[in-house]
Amino acid sequence: MALLREPLLAAARSPRLRSVAEKSRLTRPVVDRFVAGSTEADALRVTAELEAAGLYVSLDFLGEDTTSAEQAEHTVAAYESVLKGLAASGSAERAEVSVKLSAIGQALPGDGERIALDGARRICQAAATVGTTVTIDMEDHTTTDSTLGIVAQLRADFPWVGAVLQAYLKRTEADCRELATAGSRIRLCKGAYAEPESVAFVGEEVEESYRRCLSVLFAGKGYPMVASHDPAMIAAARSLAVQNNRASDSYEFQMLYGIRPEEQRALAAGGHRMRVYVPYGDEWYGYFMRRLAERPANLAFFLRSLASKK
Ligand code: FDA
Repeated sequence: MALLREPLLAAARSPRLRSVAEKSRLTRPVVDRFVAGSTEADALRVTAELEAAGLYVSLDFLGEDTTSAEQAEHTVAAYESVLKGLAASGSAERAEVSVKLSAIGQALPGDGERIALDGARRICQAAATVGTTVTIDMEDHTTTDSTLGIVAQLRADFPWVGAVLQAYLKRTEADCRELATAGSRIRLCKGAYAEPESVAFVGEEVEESYRRCLSVLFAGKGYPMVASHDPAMIAAARSLAVQNNRASDSYEFQMLYGIRPEEQRALAAGGHRMRVYVPYGDEWYGYFMRRLAERPANLAFFLRSLASKK
């Protein structure tokens, strides 16, 4: 099954497959396991349901690799709107947003980084207004320096902005040491993109790196956000929390919507902060393909629903 990871991640970047898949209504039932729905109302409804079950939420308006300033603007406006919606529905205390900088213009030629920084600032301002936070997702390794640079600039005004570090990158343990400072919210994940071996660990090395990074983050002064469905990583974080005398509100666990939902509820019931990453919107293709690459078990069902479109 590991052999499927590379082709699935390559397919995740194909505009042609994206367009066929996103237009096919038949793929939707498969996708809906991982995505809250198309609309802001869907996102708010699922947020309320998860909050009622004692969970925290990070909402992700789906989209990435934006190719126009208009599309970037549309995404920023969607975030401003959903943040107002969270406040109006009384959900802002437990729900934040996650933002991909490529969705708000980071890769646009010329002044893409400035466009993304301006857009992210507007989203942070909207979050500050309603009393919640923003986490900036991490994409492939070619964007890491640019993304951490933008996070640093955002933190000058909004110190609660979360950064994401990916344990599969060889640089990440050093990044953890640098970023584990007071108040620094760091989401640690394994990493979801196809990366060359020159920059990334493979196989069990990724888990070993994840453990080393967890040790740095839990011993540091920041706020670790343990983003993994892997029982071994969760157990490692739990024992590090005990070893470092961490109060239960000084770190949190995070999982993706639709993946191990019983475990999400069990951790929350056990007194842990558990945040669910909830994607919504129509541009689900890249996100969904990365989930298939992690677990190809759903692939046959998905391909059947695409083929029967004709
Ligand atoms: P792994 O994939 O090894 O899975 C461990 C176990 O979890 C499996 O054995 C299975 O039991 C279960 N499981 C995992 N995937 C499943 C699935 N699709 N369906 C059913 N069960 C499954 N990545 C990134 O590069 N940048 C980012 O910004 C983020 N952001 C992010 C936020 C949050 C909240 C999470 C949880 C994850 C991310 N990721 C991410 C994705 C992350 O890098 C990684 O690809 C996935 O979390 C899968 O890695 P795990 O640590 O879960 O382990």
